[in-house]
Amino acid sequence: MDYRARIEAVLDRALPIPEAGSQRLTEAMRYSVLGGGKRLRPTLVYTAGVALGASLDALDDPAAAVELIHVYSLVHDDLPAMDDDDLRRGRPSCHRAFDEATAILAGDALQALAFEILAGPESLAEPEALRRLTMCRLLAHRIGTVGMAGGQAIDLESVGKRIDLAALQDMHRRKTGALIEASVLLGAVAAGVTSGPTYRALQDYSAAIGLAFQIQDDILDVTGTTDAIGKIAGADAALDKPTYTSLLGLDGARRAAAEQHDRALAAVAPLGAAGQGLAKLADFVVGRAS
Ligand code: IPE
Ligand code: IPE
Ligand code: MG
Ligand code: MG
Ligand code: MG
Repeated sequence: MDYRARIEAVLDRALPIPEAGSQRLTEAMRYSVLGGGKRLRPTLVYTAGVALGASLDALDDPAAAVELIHVYSLVHDDLPAMDDDDLRRGRPSCHRAFDEATAILAGDALQALAFEILAGPESLAEPEALRRLTMCRLLAHRIGTVGMAGGQAIDLESVGKRIDLAALQDMHRRKTGALIEASVLLGAVAAGVTSGPTYRALQDYSAAIGLAFQIQDDILDVTGTTDAIGKIAGADAALDKPTYTSLLGLDGARRAAAEQHDRALAAVAPLGAAGQGLAKLADFVVGRAS
């Protein structure tokens, strides 16, 4: 099922309205979040959650939170101090449309907003309040030093260097895979599933598609056009970044993505019909052209 219209409305409601004082900041946040994007991470929250019996209403907050974290990461990733990219989602990146300081603050505020939403309203009682705490911990863990931020640090450290496949895989798992894993697992937690064989199947599935997603991103940087991917094509080679294509070649990168795709399908096969939506998303991750 296509959850894009739902998440657009949820995000629009969640974002602050520009007001005197912080007008430029809130405009930058709205510009970055509401400016397109595939919305894969919220779609994973909804698809995993619904597969395990959660209601869509119960999934709106974690779905919004992962997209806000994702957009924060993109805004910071594009900064001159990081990848120095001028184009994002087919439009000037946040620091180009606004300015660097505003882009830094927009990222900061998006991260804060994500956790405020995920924590839920003060009126929440048990067991939902405890569930929200579990979700906050899960997300925080995967976007910190052992996950996304740590992966981004390795990425920057690796510019111009040749790293081996194990190190590259570790970097990709952290910088991109960890948030994709969190998205699937937040859907499970919202459905009340926090351990057991189904949870472990989703851990395997999400680890596989998380890595596959970044491998495909590396591939599209080589094979995609700026128009299709909405960001400057060839940017990785221009910055001398280690990627799956630079290390394994295009065919090798495609084989690596296919391997993870197979792993993902095998992981959700035991879920039967409930896993079908997730299987389709695994197809999308490696088949996508943007
Ligand atoms: C791009 O992510 C950044 C990576 C982690 C590779 P997406 O390809 O999901 O970007 P949007 O959200 O669709 O713009
Ligand atoms: C981005 O990786 C990972 C995060 C934003 C955490 P990339 O630098 O490859 O993403 P793009 O290609 O700029 O979207
Ligand atoms: Mg980057
Ligand atoms: Mg980048
Ligand atoms: Mg990239």
